[in-house]
Amino acid sequence: MLGAMRQVWIPRKGSPDVLEVREAPDPTARAGDVLIRVSACGINFADILARMGLYPDAPRLPAVVGYEISGVVEGLGRGVTGLGIGQRVIGMTRFGGYSDVVAVPEVQVIPISDAISFEKAAAVPVNYLTAWLMLIKLGNLAEGERILIHAAGGGVGQAAVQLARWRGAEIYGTASPDKHERLREAGVDHCIDYRSNDFEEEIARLTDGQGVHLVIDAVGGTSFKKSYRSLTPMGRLFLFGISSFAPSTSRSIITALRGFLSLPTFKPIPLMNENRGVFGVNLGHLWNLADQLSSMLGEVCGLIDQGVLDPVVDTAFPFTRAAEAHAFIQDRKNFGKVLLTPD
Ligand SMILES: NC(=O)c1ccc[n+]([C@@H]2O[C@H](COP(=O)([O-])OP(=O)(O)OC[C@H]3O[C@@H](n4cnc5c(N)ncnc54)[C@H](OP(=O)(O)O)[C@@H]3O)[C@@H](O)[C@H]2O)c1
Repeated sequence: MLGAMRQVWIPRKGSPDVLEVREAPDPTARAGDVLIRVSACGINFADILARMGLYPDAPRLPAVVGYEISGVVEGLGRGVTGLGIGQRVIGMTRFGGYSDVVAVPEVQVIPISDAISFEKAAAVPVNYLTAWLMLIKLGNLAEGERILIHAAGGGVGQAAVQLARWRGAEIYGTASPDKHERLREAGVDHCIDYRSNDFEEEIARLTDGQGVHLVIDAVGGTSFKKSYRSLTPMGRLFLFGISSFAPSTSRSIITALRGFLSLPTFKPIPLMNENRGVFGVNLGHLWNLADQLSSMLGEVCGLIDQGVLDPVVDTAFPFTRAAEAHAFIQDRKNFGKVLLTPD
Protein backbone atom coordinates (compact mmCIF):
# COMPACT_ATOMS: atom_id res chain seq x y z
CA MET A 1 0.00 0.00 0.00
CA LEU A 2 1.44 3.39 -1.00
CA GLY A 3 2.34 5.51 2.02
CA ALA A 4 2.01 2.63 4.50
CA MET A 5 5.25 1.25 5.85
CA ARG A 6 5.70 -2.14 7.47
CA GLN A 7 7.46 -2.61 10.78
CA VAL A 8 8.35 -5.48 13.09
CA TRP A 9 6.90 -4.72 16.54
CA ILE A 10 7.62 -6.11 20.00
CA PRO A 11 4.08 -5.84 21.34
CA ARG A 12 4.91 -7.24 24.79
CA LYS A 13 7.75 -9.03 26.49
CA GLY A 14 8.11 -12.71 25.72
CA SER A 15 9.57 -15.40 23.48
CA PRO A 16 10.56 -14.71 19.83
CA ASP A 17 6.99 -15.59 18.77
CA VAL A 18 5.61 -12.33 20.16
CA LEU A 19 7.19 -10.38 17.26
CA GLU A 20 4.61 -9.21 14.74
CA VAL A 21 4.54 -7.27 11.47
CA ARG A 22 2.25 -4.21 11.46
CA GLU A 23 1.54 -1.39 9.04
CA ALA A 24 1.79 2.29 9.91
CA PRO A 25 1.75 5.55 7.94
CA ASP A 26 5.14 6.39 6.38
CA PRO A 27 7.20 8.78 8.50
CA THR A 28 7.92 12.26 7.17
CA ALA A 29 11.32 13.93 7.13
CA ARG A 30 11.29 16.80 9.61
CA ALA A 31 13.89 19.59 9.45
CA GLY A 32 17.35 18.00 9.49
CA ASP A 33 16.03 14.48 8.81
CA VAL A 34 16.78 12.11 5.97
CA LEU A 35 14.01 9.76 4.81
CA ILE A 36 15.44 6.36 3.88
CA ARG A 37 13.82 3.41 2.08
CA VAL A 38 15.31 0.49 4.03
CA SER A 39 17.01 -2.44 2.27
CA ALA A 40 18.23 -4.26 5.40
CA CYS A 41 18.36 -3.68 9.15
CA GLY A 42 20.71 -5.18 11.69
CA ILE A 43 19.57 -7.30 14.63
CA ASN A 44 21.61 -6.86 17.79
CA PHE A 45 21.75 -8.85 20.98
CA ALA A 46 20.27 -5.82 22.77
CA ASP A 47 17.08 -6.33 20.70
CA ILE A 48 16.81 -9.86 22.08
CA LEU A 49 17.18 -8.52 25.62
CA ALA A 50 14.63 -5.76 24.88
CA ARG A 51 12.12 -8.37 23.72
CA MET A 52 12.66 -10.31 26.96
CA GLY A 53 12.19 -7.16 29.05
CA LEU A 54 15.82 -7.40 30.23
CA TYR A 55 17.26 -4.28 28.60
CA PRO A 56 16.99 -1.15 30.73
CA ASP A 57 17.76 1.24 27.84
CA ALA A 58 15.03 -0.16 25.57
CA PRO A 59 11.91 1.88 24.80
CA ARG A 60 8.75 0.94 26.69
CA LEU A 61 6.81 -1.84 24.99
CA PRO A 62 5.04 -1.98 22.61
CA ALA A 63 7.96 -0.72 20.54
CA VAL A 64 9.91 -1.06 17.32
CA VAL A 65 13.61 -1.61 18.00
CA GLY A 66 16.56 -1.69 15.61
CA TYR A 67 19.72 0.41 15.80
CA GLU A 68 20.90 0.36 12.19
CA ILE A 69 19.75 0.18 8.61
CA SER A 70 21.04 0.45 5.06
CA GLY A 71 19.02 1.78 2.14
CA VAL A 72 18.40 4.57 -0.33
CA VAL A 73 17.61 8.22 0.41
CA GLU A 74 14.02 8.91 -0.58
CA GLY A 75 13.40 12.34 0.92
CA LEU A 76 15.22 15.24 2.58
CA GLY A 77 13.99 17.44 5.41
CA ARG A 78 14.58 21.19 5.40
CA GLY A 79 18.24 22.09 5.91
CA VAL A 80 19.74 18.78 4.81
CA THR A 81 22.54 19.66 2.41
CA GLY A 82 25.07 16.84 2.52
CA LEU A 83 23.01 14.06 0.95
CA GLY A 84 20.94 13.62 -2.21
CA ILE A 85 17.86 11.66 -3.25
CA GLY A 86 18.80 8.19 -4.52
CA GLN A 87 22.05 8.05 -2.55
CA ARG A 88 23.01 4.72 -0.92
CA VAL A 89 23.49 5.14 2.83
CA ILE A 90 23.68 3.55 6.22
CA GLY A 91 21.76 5.05 9.11
CA MET A 92 22.09 4.77 12.87
CA THR A 93 18.47 4.73 13.96
CA ARG A 94 18.94 3.97 17.66
CA PHE A 95 15.42 2.51 17.78
CA GLY A 96 12.82 1.97 15.07
CA GLY A 97 15.16 0.33 12.56
CA TYR A 98 12.91 -2.73 12.02
CA SER A 99 10.92 -0.70 9.43
CA ASP A 100 10.86 -0.41 5.68
CA VAL A 101 11.06 3.42 5.83
CA VAL A 102 12.86 5.47 8.50
CA ALA A 103 13.50 9.17 9.14
CA VAL A 104 16.97 9.75 10.64
CA PRO A 105 18.86 12.95 11.57
CA GLU A 106 21.47 13.75 8.91
CA VAL A 107 24.35 13.48 11.39
CA GLN A 108 23.48 9.78 11.86
CA VAL A 109 23.58 8.99 8.13
CA ILE A 110 26.71 8.00 6.19
CA PRO A 111 26.97 7.59 2.42
CA ILE A 112 28.31 4.23 1.24
CA SER A 113 30.08 3.28 -1.97
CA ASP A 114 28.60 1.07 -4.68
CA ALA A 115 31.20 -1.57 -3.77
CA ILE A 116 29.38 -2.70 -0.61
CA SER A 117 26.08 -4.61 -0.71
CA PHE A 118 23.13 -3.31 1.33
CA GLU A 119 23.25 -6.47 3.46
CA LYS A 120 26.91 -6.04 4.38
CA ALA A 121 26.32 -2.31 4.95
CA ALA A 122 23.54 -2.97 7.49
CA ALA A 123 25.99 -5.17 9.41
CA VAL A 124 28.46 -2.32 9.89
CA PRO A 125 27.37 0.39 12.38
CA VAL A 126 26.88 -1.31 15.75
CA ASN A 127 29.38 -4.15 15.35
CA TYR A 128 32.25 -2.15 13.92
CA LEU A 129 31.74 0.97 16.06
CA THR A 130 31.68 -1.14 19.22
CA ALA A 131 34.79 -3.07 18.18
CA TRP A 132 36.51 0.17 17.02
CA LEU A 133 35.86 1.91 20.34
CA MET A 134 37.43 -0.99 22.24
CA LEU A 135 40.33 -2.08 20.05
CA ILE A 136 41.33 1.20 18.40
CA LYS A 137 40.00 4.31 20.16
CA LEU A 138 40.37 3.23 23.81
CA GLY A 139 42.39 0.00 23.68
CA ASN A 140 45.12 1.09 21.22
CA LEU A 141 45.79 -2.54 20.26
CA ALA A 142 49.37 -2.76 18.97
CA GLU A 143 51.12 -5.10 16.56
CA GLY A 144 52.20 -8.32 18.28
CA GLU A 145 49.88 -7.87 21.28
CA ARG A 146 47.66 -10.77 22.31
CA ILE A 147 43.90 -10.22 22.32
CA LEU A 148 41.15 -12.47 23.69
CA ILE A 149 37.84 -12.00 21.87
CA HIS A 150 34.83 -13.64 23.53
CA ALA A 151 31.99 -14.77 21.22
CA ALA A 152 34.48 -14.37 18.38
CA GLY A 153 31.97 -15.87 15.94
CA GLY A 154 29.31 -13.28 16.79
CA GLY A 155 28.58 -9.95 15.15
CA VAL A 156 30.85 -7.77 17.30
CA GLY A 157 33.26 -10.72 17.57
CA GLN A 158 33.82 -10.93 13.82
CA ALA A 159 34.31 -7.16 13.53
CA ALA A 160 36.86 -7.37 16.36
CA VAL A 161 38.68 -10.28 14.71
CA GLN A 162 39.06 -8.27 11.49
CA LEU A 163 40.29 -5.13 13.30
CA ALA A 164 42.73 -7.20 15.39
CA ARG A 165 44.09 -8.86 12.26
CA TRP A 166 44.51 -5.44 10.61
CA ARG A 167 46.47 -4.28 13.70
CA GLY A 168 48.73 -7.37 13.54
CA ALA A 169 47.66 -8.80 16.92
CA GLU A 170 47.76 -12.47 17.95
CA ILE A 171 44.13 -13.51 18.28
CA TYR A 172 42.57 -15.83 20.88
CA GLY A 173 38.84 -16.41 20.44
CA THR A 174 36.17 -18.22 22.42
CA ALA A 175 33.18 -19.72 20.61
CA SER A 176 31.00 -22.79 20.45
CA PRO A 177 33.07 -25.58 18.84
CA ASP A 178 31.12 -25.79 15.57
CA LYS A 179 32.35 -22.25 14.75
CA HIS A 180 36.08 -22.97 15.21
CA GLU A 181 36.88 -23.93 11.64
CA ARG A 182 35.40 -20.68 10.29
CA LEU A 183 37.17 -18.75 13.03
CA ARG A 184 40.53 -20.16 11.95
CA GLU A 185 39.76 -19.17 8.35
CA ALA A 186 38.90 -15.67 9.62
CA GLY A 187 42.34 -15.35 11.23
CA VAL A 188 41.83 -16.48 14.84
CA ASP A 189 45.14 -18.05 15.90
CA HIS A 190 43.83 -19.94 18.95
CA CYS A 191 40.21 -21.11 19.22
CA ILE A 192 38.89 -21.92 22.70
CA ASP A 193 35.80 -24.05 23.34
CA TYR A 194 34.65 -22.24 26.48
CA ARG A 195 31.68 -24.56 26.86
CA SER A 196 33.80 -27.64 27.63
CA ASN A 197 37.02 -25.97 28.85
CA ASP A 198 37.83 -23.25 31.35
CA PHE A 199 38.97 -20.37 29.13
CA GLU A 200 41.13 -18.87 31.89
CA GLU A 201 43.11 -22.12 32.15
CA GLU A 202 43.34 -22.32 28.36
CA ILE A 203 44.72 -18.77 28.10
CA ALA A 204 47.28 -19.51 30.84
CA ARG A 205 48.31 -22.71 29.05
CA LEU A 206 48.50 -21.19 25.56
CA THR A 207 50.46 -18.11 26.71
CA ASP A 208 52.80 -19.96 29.12
CA GLY A 209 51.21 -18.07 31.99
CA GLN A 210 51.87 -14.65 30.41
CA GLY A 211 48.23 -13.71 29.74
CA VAL A 212 46.81 -11.41 27.07
CA HIS A 213 47.09 -7.65 26.55
CA LEU A 214 43.47 -6.99 25.75
CA VAL A 215 40.18 -8.81 26.41
CA ILE A 216 36.72 -7.88 25.14
CA ASP A 217 34.00 -9.52 27.20
CA ALA A 218 30.22 -9.22 26.82
CA VAL A 219 29.47 -12.58 28.41
CA GLY A 220 29.42 -11.26 31.98
CA GLY A 221 28.81 -13.20 35.18
CA THR A 222 31.92 -15.11 36.27
CA SER A 223 33.50 -14.44 32.88
CA PHE A 224 34.47 -10.85 33.84
CA LYS A 225 36.60 -12.08 36.77
CA LYS A 226 38.28 -14.76 34.67
CA SER A 227 38.98 -12.28 31.88
CA TYR A 228 40.55 -9.85 34.34
CA ARG A 229 42.78 -12.59 35.73
CA SER A 230 43.83 -13.45 32.16
CA LEU A 231 45.44 -10.03 31.63
CA THR A 232 49.15 -9.41 31.44
CA PRO A 233 50.53 -6.28 33.24
CA MET A 234 49.41 -3.20 31.25
CA GLY A 235 46.52 -5.31 30.00
CA ARG A 236 43.10 -3.78 29.25
CA LEU A 237 39.73 -5.42 29.91
CA PHE A 238 36.63 -4.16 28.11
CA LEU A 239 33.22 -4.91 29.59
CA PHE A 240 30.42 -4.25 27.12
CA GLY A 241 27.51 -6.59 27.76
CA ILE A 242 26.06 -9.43 29.79
CA SER A 243 24.96 -12.11 27.31
CA SER A 244 24.89 -14.69 30.11
CA PHE A 245 22.04 -12.72 31.65
CA ALA A 246 19.86 -13.72 28.69
CA PRO A 247 18.29 -17.15 29.00
CA SER A 248 18.38 -19.21 25.80
CA THR A 249 15.08 -20.40 24.37
CA SER A 250 15.64 -23.59 26.39
CA ARG A 251 17.19 -22.21 29.62
CA SER A 252 15.36 -20.69 32.57
CA ILE A 253 15.73 -17.09 33.66
CA ILE A 254 16.79 -18.29 37.14
CA THR A 255 19.94 -19.88 35.69
CA ALA A 256 20.70 -16.64 33.93
CA LEU A 257 20.17 -14.54 37.06
CA ARG A 258 22.89 -16.50 38.86
CA GLY A 259 25.40 -15.06 36.43
CA PHE A 260 24.19 -11.54 37.19
CA LEU A 261 24.81 -12.06 40.90
CA SER A 262 28.42 -13.07 40.28
CA LEU A 263 29.41 -9.76 38.62
CA PRO A 264 32.69 -8.46 40.11
CA THR A 265 33.55 -5.05 41.52
CA PHE A 266 36.98 -3.67 40.65
CA LYS A 267 38.99 -1.96 43.38
CA PRO A 268 41.39 0.99 42.79
CA ILE A 269 44.41 -0.26 44.77
CA PRO A 270 44.68 -3.68 43.09
CA LEU A 271 44.14 -1.98 39.69
CA MET A 272 47.07 0.35 40.41
CA ASN A 273 49.34 -2.35 41.73
CA GLU A 274 48.57 -4.73 38.89
CA ASN A 275 48.89 -2.03 36.19
CA ARG A 276 45.68 -3.10 34.52
CA GLY A 277 42.78 -1.16 33.12
CA VAL A 278 39.06 -1.95 33.10
CA PHE A 279 36.87 -0.06 30.63
CA GLY A 280 33.13 -0.02 30.11
CA VAL A 281 31.69 0.61 26.66
CA ASN A 282 28.06 1.29 25.77
CA LEU A 283 27.54 2.61 22.27
CA GLY A 284 23.92 3.38 23.12
CA HIS A 285 25.11 6.05 25.55
CA LEU A 286 27.14 7.92 22.94
CA TRP A 287 24.25 9.26 20.85
CA ASN A 288 24.97 12.83 21.91
CA LEU A 289 28.36 12.39 20.18
CA ALA A 290 26.82 11.26 16.89
CA ASP A 291 29.28 13.39 14.90
CA GLN A 292 32.21 11.46 16.41
CA LEU A 293 30.49 8.13 15.80
CA SER A 294 29.84 9.12 12.18
CA SER A 295 33.48 10.05 11.73
CA MET A 296 34.64 6.66 13.09
CA LEU A 297 32.08 4.97 10.85
CA GLY A 298 33.55 6.86 7.90
CA GLU A 299 36.98 5.39 8.75
CA VAL A 300 35.48 1.90 8.95
CA CYS A 301 33.74 2.32 5.58
CA GLY A 302 37.05 3.48 4.08
CA LEU A 303 38.72 0.26 5.28
CA ILE A 304 35.86 -1.78 3.85
CA ASP A 305 36.30 -0.08 0.47
CA GLN A 306 40.03 -0.91 0.61
CA GLY A 307 39.21 -4.57 1.28
CA VAL A 308 40.81 -4.51 4.76
CA LEU A 309 37.48 -5.20 6.48
CA ASP A 310 34.65 -7.34 5.12
CA PRO A 311 31.40 -7.54 7.14
CA VAL A 312 30.27 -11.11 7.73
CA VAL A 313 26.54 -11.69 7.28
CA ASP A 314 25.13 -15.01 8.41
CA THR A 315 21.49 -14.79 7.32
CA ALA A 316 19.03 -12.11 6.22
CA PHE A 317 15.53 -13.08 7.39
CA PRO A 318 12.44 -11.40 5.89
CA PHE A 319 10.28 -9.36 8.31
CA THR A 320 7.71 -12.17 8.44
CA ARG A 321 10.37 -14.53 9.86
CA ALA A 322 11.65 -12.13 12.52
CA ALA A 323 10.83 -14.64 15.28
CA GLU A 324 13.13 -17.20 13.65
CA ALA A 325 15.87 -14.58 13.39
CA HIS A 326 15.69 -13.76 17.11
CA ALA A 327 15.65 -17.45 18.10
CA PHE A 328 18.64 -18.08 15.82
CA ILE A 329 20.81 -15.59 17.75
CA GLN A 330 19.46 -16.53 21.17
CA ASP A 331 20.28 -20.18 20.50
CA ARG A 332 23.88 -19.20 19.55
CA LYS A 333 23.60 -20.41 15.97
CA ASN A 334 24.81 -17.27 14.21
CA PHE A 335 28.22 -16.73 12.71
CA GLY A 336 28.52 -12.98 12.10
CA LYS A 337 25.54 -10.72 11.64
CA VAL A 338 21.84 -11.55 11.40
CA LEU A 339 19.63 -9.11 9.47
CA LEU A 340 16.00 -8.41 8.71
CA THR A 341 14.88 -7.42 5.22
CA PRO A 342 11.52 -5.91 4.26
CA ASP A 343 9.55 -8.51 2.28
N1 LIG B 1 28.00 -2.11 24.87
C1 LIG B 1 27.77 -1.97 23.58
O1 LIG B 1 27.84 -0.87 23.05
C2 LIG B 1 27.44 -3.18 22.78
C3 LIG B 1 27.26 -3.07 21.40
C4 LIG B 1 26.99 -4.24 20.67
C5 LIG B 1 26.88 -5.45 21.33
N2 LIG B 1 27.03 -5.50 22.67
C6 LIG B 1 26.96 -6.78 23.39
O2 LIG B 1 27.89 -7.65 22.80
C7 LIG B 1 27.42 -8.98 22.84
C8 LIG B 1 27.44 -9.54 21.44
O3 LIG B 1 26.46 -8.87 20.68
P1 LIG B 1 26.15 -9.27 19.18
O4 LIG B 1 24.96 -8.46 18.77
O5 LIG B 1 27.40 -9.20 18.39
O6 LIG B 1 25.65 -10.77 19.34
P2 LIG B 1 26.35 -12.07 18.77
O7 LIG B 1 27.69 -12.16 19.41
O8 LIG B 1 26.26 -12.06 17.30
O9 LIG B 1 25.38 -13.24 19.23
C9 LIG B 1 25.45 -13.89 20.39
C10 LIG B 1 26.61 -14.90 20.46
O10 LIG B 1 27.16 -14.75 21.75
C11 LIG B 1 27.63 -16.01 22.21
N3 LIG B 1 27.16 -16.22 23.59
C12 LIG B 1 27.97 -16.33 24.65
N4 LIG B 1 27.25 -16.49 25.75
C13 LIG B 1 25.95 -16.48 25.38
C14 LIG B 1 24.73 -16.65 26.09
N5 LIG B 1 24.69 -16.83 27.40
N6 LIG B 1 23.56 -16.60 25.39
C15 LIG B 1 23.57 -16.44 24.07
N7 LIG B 1 24.71 -16.27 23.35
C16 LIG B 1 25.89 -16.31 24.02
C17 LIG B 1 27.09 -17.06 21.24
O11 LIG B 1 28.19 -17.52 20.47
P3 LIG B 1 29.08 -18.76 20.98
O12 LIG B 1 28.13 -19.84 21.37
O13 LIG B 1 29.92 -19.09 19.81
O14 LIG B 1 29.86 -18.23 22.16
C18 LIG B 1 26.13 -16.31 20.34
O15 LIG B 1 26.14 -16.78 19.01
C19 LIG B 1 26.04 -8.91 23.51
O16 LIG B 1 26.18 -9.14 24.88
C20 LIG B 1 25.63 -7.49 23.27
O17 LIG B 1 24.67 -7.04 24.20
C21 LIG B 1 27.30 -4.40 23.40
